[in-house]
Amino acid sequence: MIGIGAGDPDQVTVQAIKAMRQVETFFVIGKGETKHGLVAVRTAILDQHMDRPYRIVSITDPPRDRTPADYVDTVAGWHDRRSAVLESAFAGVTGVGGILVWGDPALYDSTLRMIQRVLDRRAMHFDYEVIPGVTSAQALAARHRVVLHGVGEPVHVTTGRRLRAEGLGAHSTVVMLDGECSFTAISGDDVHIWWGAYLGMPDETLIEGPLPAVCDQIVRRRAELRDRNGWIMDIYLLRRRG
Ligand SMILES: C[S@@+](CC[C@H](N)C(=O)[O-])C[C@H]1O[C@@H](n2cnc3c(N)ncnc32)[C@H](O)[C@@H]1O
Repeated sequence: MIGIGAGDPDQVTVQAIKAMRQVETFFVIGKGETKHGLVAVRTAILDQHMDRPYRIVSITDPPRDRTPADYVDTVAGWHDRRSAVLESAFAGVTGVGGILVWGDPALYDSTLRMIQRVLDRRAMHFDYEVIPGVTSAQALAARHRVVLHGVGEPVHVTTGRRLRAEGLGAHSTVVMLDGECSFTAISGDDVHIWWGAYLGMPDETLIEGPLPAVCDQIVRRRAELRDRNGWIMDIYLLRRRG
């Protein structure tokens, strides 16, 4: 399982390239791929770094209820269906397989959990290794040239859904997976936002400033970019002035 960074092909690590070059079959997990930018980055990475022939097996994600009444149960059921699909894709393939994971596999990605589910079913056995990648949280911090937390303080990494439900805590908060501009629900003149979309990709867009001052600008810009490209990926850091 190879973390490939959050979009910039130059942020693929030497370790990831070495691992990719051992792979005979890549399993590409997608949703019938509407996010063409992501497919393009993955293809560019393979084109740039592979030095021998390889096979690609596409795996289409089973559909998922995005607004379920019981989020945890629904996601667990979806993971079961996904891991079953993964298991049948693995069956019959010998040699070294590889899965390219966006960013780092340890952050808001379920591939590791699904691999474990496949192994838990005991219908097949394989060994696997995880190669870390640059996460979008790191890419955001680097592009804004900011430390993710105050001196000696913690940083909270969460989703848009949870930010809306729980509000902003006392410390720094990184928000991912937010299709709803959940920062609009946060009040306070003392909140600063560092926002980034398509980090490392040609449409990379950065906006930073006091939240009340830049909130509308981010909402507008995000909508324009999403309309133009048909998809968007964005992430942001929120922090109250100390
Ligand atoms: C399913 S999570 C995967 C995160 C990934 N494993 C990582 O380490 O960054 C997808 C979320 O990551 C963030 N993200 C990933 N790549 C990004 C990028 N290039 N620009 C902005 N946000 C990104 C967005 O918040 C997006 O909703």
